[in-house]
Amino acid sequence: MATVSGSVPPAKHGIFATKPTAELIAQGESGDRKLKKSLGTFDLTAVGIGTIIGTGIYVIIGEAIGKSGPAIIISFILAAVTCAFSALSYAELASSIPISGSSYTYAYATLGELVAWIIGWDLVLEYGFASAAVSVGWGGYLQDLLHSLFSIQLPDAIAKAPGDGGVVNLPSVLLVLFVVWLLTRGASKSAKTNVGFVLFKMAILLFFVVAGIFSFHPSHFHDFAPHGVSGTWSAAALIFFAYIGFDTVSTASEEAKDPGKMLPRAIIGSLAVCTFIYILVAVVAIGLSTPSALGNSDAPLVDALRDGGGLGPWAGDILSVGALVAITSVVLSLMYGQTRILFAMARDGLLPRSWSTLNANDAPGWITVGLGLVVATFAALIPLKDLAELVNIGTLFAFVIVNLGVIVLRRTQPDLERAFRCPLVPIVPLIGTALCIYLMTQLKSITWERFFIWLALGLVVYFLYSKRHSAVQRGERVKTDAPA
Ligand code: ALA
Repeated sequence: MATVSGSVPPAKHGIFATKPTAELIAQGESGDRKLKKSLGTFDLTAVGIGTIIGTGIYVIIGEAIGKSGPAIIISFILAAVTCAFSALSYAELASSIPISGSSYTYAYATLGELVAWIIGWDLVLEYGFASAAVSVGWGGYLQDLLHSLFSIQLPDAIAKAPGDGGVVNLPSVLLVLFVVWLLTRGASKSAKTNVGFVLFKMAILLFFVVAGIFSFHPSHFHDFAPHGVSGTWSAAALIFFAYIGFDTVSTASEEAKDPGKMLPRAIIGSLAVCTFIYILVAVVAIGLSTPSALGNSDAPLVDALRDGGGLGPWAGDILSVGALVAITSVVLSLMYGQTRILFAMARDGLLPRSWSTLNANDAPGWITVGLGLVVATFAALIPLKDLAELVNIGTLFAFVIVNLGVIVLRRTQPDLERAFRCPLVPIVPLIGTALCIYLMTQLKSITWERFFIWLALGLVVYFLYSKRHSAVQRGERVKTDAPA
């Protein structure tokens, strides 16, 4: 059983009951519902990059440039800074509570069960809906490639969601089922597959930069911010989608060999690498094509290279293949993260406990298959545009809670061992909170309405099911070696 340094306050009761960190850690290190510690810093960084680089840079960048013009470079920086502040908070919590479940688990330790539930429910919005959204982007690229290489045009009825003029988006469903198959083979094998995906997609984006740099037109930058400061911020709120994913590193914490050291490195490292790549890609994309052409394209990078690169259509085809691979690894990482959060919630009794059973490959098999069916249904039926903003608001909300969680945990458990400490607490987490809230205010009012409806639904589930079945509410305690 784990020995945990630091004091263990008694769990409070009712909806504000907190789970002592010593118990959380002991729970992750004992019993039959335990995940194998098989991931190193490189694997974990790849989990982050695997989730970050995908539909955002390949598809959503176009719509964002439509809002900001060349100032998208500033928008990328604004979104990255917002993420960086939150990444420091994630790194501290991940290093002190290295348990499966990410911000859900951190909230359980700091802000109480109801907030933890709200965050867990909110993360379903982030990861579940994002997996569906990203799969839809994949389906679009598959069609683009089939058309370019073989002149095959899939009928809209089996290639598009109802809102886009079809009946069912079959390619996206097939992708989700493929990812479910990979995930049920176990985390370690999936993480290794992910490393391959990540290296390949970074090479493809590098290819874009090198291929595009020879047809660079500095004049495209003359009208730098056609929609002013507000256009730049609203593009930042949208392109924030492109950064979602560094937080999935923390969902893998229970499987990290040395979480205290490896998680902060992987979280901050994956964010830094992707920010650098995004800014390079954005500069080259604008130099290559015009902001208005990029803004009107569903596949902006590929079209930019096909039309403006001077290398012929094959260059665009290579990039399309890169997009397919990139997006596959995003779905893999997002669904991986989502299964781990659901696993933690089921283990705590907030969802049916039987869901947390592991299969012969040490993967939460039931959760993976069940989640796969739900995500496949969303991917089959809902258009991408309707989902991206909703995913952003859900994610920003989770970041707010993580930032506040750092401040609360420093006060409630000052002696807890923290392998990584966020600098200048509470100033840094408060700036992180303010930036997230500001970006949230840049999203459309319909997005806020949908977000509140989703949260209200979550509260109904909590009071009807989760509160009654919660292990903490029932007084089931995990034994620890720490003083009571
Ligand atoms: N950041 C991920 C993407 O852009 C969600 O696809």
